[in-house]
Amino acid sequence: MEGKTVYSAIQPSGNLTIGNYVGSIRNWLNMQSEYDCYFAMANMHAITVRQEPSELRRRTLELAALYIACGVDPEKCTLYVQSQVPQHAELAWVLNTLTYVGEMERMTQFKDKSRKHADNINMGLMDYPVLMAADILLYQADLVPVGQDQTQHVEITRDIAVRFNNRFGDTFTVPQALILKQGAKICSLQEPEKKMSKSDENPNASVYLTDDRDAILRKFKRAVTDSDSEIRLAPEKPGISNLLTIYASFTGKTAGEAEKDFAGKGYGEFKLAVGEAVADKLAPVQQEQARLLKDKAYLGGVLAAGAERAYKTARKTLSKVYRKIGFYQGE
Ligand code: TYM
Repeated sequence: MEGKTVYSAIQPSGNLTIGNYVGSIRNWLNMQSEYDCYFAMANMHAITVRQEPSELRRRTLELAALYIACGVDPEKCTLYVQSQVPQHAELAWVLNTLTYVGEMERMTQFKDKSRKHADNINMGLMDYPVLMAADILLYQADLVPVGQDQTQHVEITRDIAVRFNNRFGDTFTVPQALILKQGAKICSLQEPEKKMSKSDENPNASVYLTDDRDAILRKFKRAVTDSDSEIRLAPEKPGISNLLTIYASFTGKTAGEAEKDFAGKGYGEFKLAVGEAVADKLAPVQQEQARLLKDKAYLGGVLAAGAERAYKTARKTLSKVYRKIGFYQGE
């Protein structure tokens, strides 16, 4: 695995949930010493649904501070804002010409978001996976650590890469999604068959990374369980299984070990322990994020350096692409 490149990103839209942390950021941390990692704030993806400009700007910085507070080390990896590297949009345009409308219409997330934002089914919303393919392919990424909901987008990225390579000769590394068995889909605390989402209207369904201890404990106390009282992982017990997965992810235990911790205990004690594990882990992250946000000069420096590094790699790939497809680039 020496010399591999890792790429991932999160949209600075809405309030991040513990699902985003468990499904993505947490898995980035042990990769940064070993691989060449790029982690972005995907603000160009965020505008595919309406955003308040001042909020988008604020959330972008908050997300950068969050990455660092969680342990992403800007000395070891390239941390940058997507819109600061113009090649993302440029490559997306080229890749658009190799992507079929029918493929985009079939994307599950596009269908979900079209239902949710029926008054704003814009071209960007449909084109979103092509921009994501451009993100990943620009850096010749081998691995893309994401949650389960992004699998389809990484699959289409692979298809587009193979299509380009077949037509124009070997150009792109064909990436692989890296989806962990545990925590790839953290579910809603209120409807545990559904993914926990930043945009859920029920505030008790999601635990946000900005929630304080009281809110976290309260939400877990109210989490939907089931009528029997056994604490075990089972498909017919989605609420309990979800809480066990959250507990395991926040304590570094396996789900089996988590089950053992609660053998013979009641739901009340169990839910309190899950809430405490989450609150204990998030408190220092929140403190560090707040501290970083006060140091705008430091954050600005990190993001400028990250954008410069990302730009260098992106420019190299785009120039190769332009050469392959026959774009005039000067004599
Ligand atoms: P986004 O911003 O919706 O989510 C960021 C990451 O969090 C994961 N995730 C979850 N994991 C487990 N359980 C959940 N409930 C949960 N909810 C979200 C997502 O799978 C994702 O890994 N299109 C991407 C951002 C993106 C990107 C990229 C990712 C843009 N370009 C290139 C990888 C590579 C998105 O909207 O993620």
